Amino acid sequence: MYDFNLRYNEYLSEFEQYANAYAQKLKTKPEILGESMRYSLLNGGKRIRPVLALACADTLKLPKTEILPFALALEMIHCYSLIHDDLPAMDNDDFRRGKPSNHKAFGEANAILAGDALLNEAYAICFEQSMKGEKYAQASKFLNECAGVYGMIAGQSADLYFSQQGKEVSEEDLFYVYEHKTGKLLLAPVAIASILSDNKCYLAFERFGKLLGRLFQMTDDILDVTGDFQNLGKSIGKDEEENKLTCVRLYGLEGAKVRSETCAKDCLAVLEGIDGDTDFLRDLIDYILKRRK
Ligand code: IPE
Ligand code: IPE
Ligand code: MG
Ligand code: MG
Ligand code: MG
Repeated sequence: MYDFNLRYNEYLSEFEQYANAYAQKLKTKPEILGESMRYSLLNGGKRIRPVLALACADTLKLPKTEILPFALALEMIHCYSLIHDDLPAMDNDDFRRGKPSNHKAFGEANAILAGDALLNEAYAICFEQSMKGEKYAQASKFLNECAGVYGMIAGQSADLYFSQQGKEVSEEDLFYVYEHKTGKLLLAPVAIASILSDNKCYLAFERFGKLLGRLFQMTDDILDVTGDFQNLGKSIGKDEEENKLTCVRLYGLEGAKVRSETCAKDCLAVLEGIDGDTDFLRDLIDYILKRRK
């Protein structure tokens, strides 16, 4: 019998094993470089992106061994984005995943380098995969686009731009920030699973990934107001403090909640168009909508 939590934990442990095996092989000189990389790569987190990758692979009947290297590369990019996101020059956050953020533990300079190093290692994995053939190269190219100047980095830049005092902001601006800073790294696992399955159900998966990214950042924004440090492992109320463009700022808390529910319904509707077992993906939408961490 299928059980959501059990399945989530199965995906989680598959991913953790794979990530640990990588981390054990990592030998750096000086050692502090590897230590600070491991600190951010292995210190928990929901692993929603790797879990999504494994779940979509299952829906498409793609062997896990095919997707795991990309899941790791993606999580490395995500972890690097968090290290840099927390830096004093960006969001200035002292806590991440219930522990001091990387720069609080290792100092700013080491944190910057740990982030850079994780990004480079992610591409080392992609280069190795690319040599296996065309679709692996396509998947690597896709990940690169999601992370870069037309992806997450653009979103982070827009996030900073719109947090300047006195800026007029619109829903279009909010969706631009969402689609890029968060959406692209949630689209990546979904689209890559399809690319590696010879583009099976690509358009539906693409639509699903995009909407899920929007939903995920909506709940992140809401939790910054309604959440608690114990569950979230990061400071609360930071978005208002830093004048961030969030759905709560644009629609108010109740308006934001209503919109997140509508977005979850839209995600569910897209799943209808996907062949294969989508039970876990369906429940994952609800998990994201109702999450406390
Ligand atoms: C936090 O991502 C940054 C956002 C894109 C909102 P997650 O909420 O996935 O962070 P972890 O990996 O679980 O810590
Ligand atoms: C972060 O968005 C997105 C990336 C790290 C790319 P937030 O700044 O809202 O994430 P948290 O709230 O610090 O986790
Ligand atoms: Mg940020
Ligand atoms: Mg932040
Ligand atoms: Mg946030």
